[in-house]
Amino acid sequence: MPHIDSHSGPRYRAIALAIGEAIQRGELVPGTRLPPQRHLADALGVTVGTVTRGYAEAEHRGWVTARVGSGTYVKPLQARHVFDTLHERENGLTDLSLSLPPPHPLRAQALSTALQALSSEPDVLKRGITYSGAQGSEHHRQLLARWLGRLGMALAADELLVTQGGQHAISLVLSTLLRPGELVAADALTYPGAISAAQQAHLKMVGIPFDQEGMSMAALEAQCARQPPRLIYLTPDQNNPTGTCLSEERRTQLVALARRYDIWLLEDGVQYLPVEQRGTPLYQLAPERTLFVFSTAKVLAGGLRIGVLRAPPALLERLAAGVRAQSWMVPPLMVDIVCHWIAQPAASELLAWQTGELTARQTLAEQLLAGYALGRRPSGSNVWLALPEGVRALELCTRLQQEGVKVESAEPFCVGSAPAPQAIRICIGAAPDQTALVSALNTVRASLAQPPLATTTV
Ligand SMILES: Cc1ncc(COP(=O)(O)O)c(C=O)c1O
Repeated sequence: MPHIDSHSGPRYRAIALAIGEAIQRGELVPGTRLPPQRHLADALGVTVGTVTRGYAEAEHRGWVTARVGSGTYVKPLQARHVFDTLHERENGLTDLSLSLPPPHPLRAQALSTALQALSSEPDVLKRGITYSGAQGSEHHRQLLARWLGRLGMALAADELLVTQGGQHAISLVLSTLLRPGELVAADALTYPGAISAAQQAHLKMVGIPFDQEGMSMAALEAQCARQPPRLIYLTPDQNNPTGTCLSEERRTQLVALARRYDIWLLEDGVQYLPVEQRGTPLYQLAPERTLFVFSTAKVLAGGLRIGVLRAPPALLERLAAGVRAQSWMVPPLMVDIVCHWIAQPAASELLAWQTGELTARQTLAEQLLAGYALGRRPSGSNVWLALPEGVRALELCTRLQQEGVKVESAEPFCVGSAPAPQAIRICIGAAPDQTALVSALNTVRASLAQPPLATTTV
């Protein structure tokens, strides 16, 4: 019996998506015959025509096959195996240490469909066998800008540069716009990829304390008075790892400080949130000094390695020169895959499903970890858990791993050498499904209630 109520949109599509999910969960194994359409229609209270369309949609997506006079059967889908191995629980371990979007068969399926469709597309082949500009082609930037517009990011094609993911964009900005030894400021706990990009570019990094409203503007101002940073790196809508959102008031103060001390702002929006959960973007408040990073990693798939960097027009040529020095250009074929994917209705269906799924997972986390101090956004993919007095993060992580759950301590997120707070990041998006998440969160809760281990060192 497919669970169609968790899907918005037309009923036939909900039936198809429910079939895909049941295949993903292993409830429908290859070779299984789907129920006769009339039976399912009666059970779901829909017309036979709706079920027929639902089965046809599932067939179109490559999940099932109809055999004349015999019925509809679950296909042994190659793409599904790729997807399964990506999220398998190795040795019974539920790995919640990496910030991944929740698994769904549509990801592998959309990639498979794009590869097939593009293999004989003359323009794609032409772009794939020749060199083009380092900013990315006008055609690609137009398509990407239109898609970003649909996601609530008003960005113009001519202010974008195509990159090999968000990490590349961060690294490109730091290595191109700053000179070795210059200072970068960031939240005292921040995305480790930004810390390593700053190290690679031989930059100094200073962590600015933060509270519930994000980076402390008093602390930033004091830092500016001592030594102004050349650039401030921020994830204003959802700090990775803590989930903190920079308040509107502080966004305005930040921009004023950046203007006073002539500081670049590097705004990272890779950890996607729906527009109603986001604040006013810094690229809107201070377009002349904000570089904005977005990526397909958390909304489509991490392996595509395609992102965009929005930059003030005066910087575009310098950044493009940086791309040329590194790799001439981003492979157009990968951008074509992305552009094909985002043009399909499946892309917005996947995102709508993902947002609903993460919201449900966040609610589960709130319920199962009730009573603990949590940092989280309503449909964010991570939860930050500040540990109660007396519990040590590294000891808890070790114990959890022995019990089959992997999470991250605060250590990799620390800027500079300030001591790490006793807290853990739980990537709820990475769990294979809600059942596995509930089980992992129960393990965390049980572990928190256990007495600390006796010391073994003298
Ligand atoms: C805040 C943040 N920025 C950037 C990235 C890197 O994005 P990409 O995978 O596109 O390189 C991540 C990845 O987790 C992230 O959390």
